Amino acid sequence: MGKKDLISITDFSKEEYLKIMELSQKFEENPSQSLLKGKVIATLFFEPSTRTRLSFESAISRLGGKIIGFSDSNSSSVSKGETLHDTIKMVSNYADMIIMRHPMEGSARYAAEVSDVPVINAGDGANQHPSQTLLDMYSIMKTQGRLDDLNLFLVGDLKYGRTVHSLLMALSQFKNPIFNFVAPPELAMPDEYKLFLEQKGIRYFEHLEFNDIINQADIIYMTRVQKERFIDPVEYEKVKNIYILKNDMLANTKPNVKILHPLPRINEIHTNVDSNPKAYYFTQARNGVFTRMAIISHLLNLQ
Ligand code: CP
Repeated sequence: MGKKDLISITDFSKEEYLKIMELSQKFEENPSQSLLKGKVIATLFFEPSTRTRLSFESAISRLGGKIIGFSDSNSSSVSKGETLHDTIKMVSNYADMIIMRHPMEGSARYAAEVSDVPVINAGDGANQHPSQTLLDMYSIMKTQGRLDDLNLFLVGDLKYGRTVHSLLMALSQFKNPIFNFVAPPELAMPDEYKLFLEQKGIRYFEHLEFNDIINQADIIYMTRVQKERFIDPVEYEKVKNIYILKNDMLANTKPNVKILHPLPRINEIHTNVDSNPKAYYFTQARNGVFTRMAIISHLLNLQ
C-alpha cells in the first residue's frame, strides 16, 4: 500500500474523521504508548508556531518516537538557498514522517509529492490546517456529543484564516450544519467556500455583527485577524479589533455553547471570558495532543 498524507482535510473520508475521533478519545484516556518506538519524525516549521509544533512533538514523545527538525528555517540550509524540493528529499531520507508548516499555499501538497514518507500539513499559508480541524472536531464532539445538527458561528478573519476553511469542509460531511459567517467585507469568507456549500445545499448566512444573534450558536469559533497575510499594514489596522467577544455578550447564549479559537488570540476574546465555563479554547489546544497522536498513528497504520 502507498504512503498516506494529510494535506487537505478532504484527504480523509467521513469514516476516517470518526476513526480519528475514536482514537483521540483512546489516547486521551491512555496517553502513554510506545507505538512509535524506533521511529523518527521530522517537524519542519518554516513559520512560527507554539501549539501545532509543540503538541505534535508532545504527541510523538508520548508515542515513544524521536523528533528531528527545526522551528526556524534560518537554522537550516534553506538560509543558504536550498530549495524546498531538496530539503524535503533530504529529510525524507532521515525520518519516517514529515510534519511541515510553510507560508506558501500549496507547499504541503508539493512536499508530499517529493517525499517518500508521509507528510502532514501543519498549515500552508492561508490554505489549510487539517490537523487543527481534526482537533476542533474532537473538541466539538466532546462538548456537544455530536457533529450533526450544529449551528456554527465563524467569526473574524474568514478570508485568511485557514482553520475556518478546513473546518467548514469537514463539517459539510455531517448532517444539517448551519454556518453563520461574521466578518467585515474585507475579510469575508472566500467565494470558493461559499460555492462549495451552495453546491452541497448547505445553509450559510453572512453577518457584519453578531451581538443580536449569538444566542442561536452551539459553537462560536473566534479567529485572529492574520496580520502576517496583509500586504498593506494600514488595511490591517482598520480591521484588527473589529470583533471582541466579551463576557456580558454570553449572558443569553445556549447552555451548551462553547467558545473555540485556534489561538493565538490577540484581542478578539476579552480575558474576562476565560473563566466562563463556555470558554473552551485552552482545553481545545490540549485536545490537540491526543488528536495528533491519533493522526500520526492512523497515517503510519499503527492502529
Ligand atoms: N492553532 C495554531 O496553529 O497555533 P500555532 O500557530 O501556535 O501553531
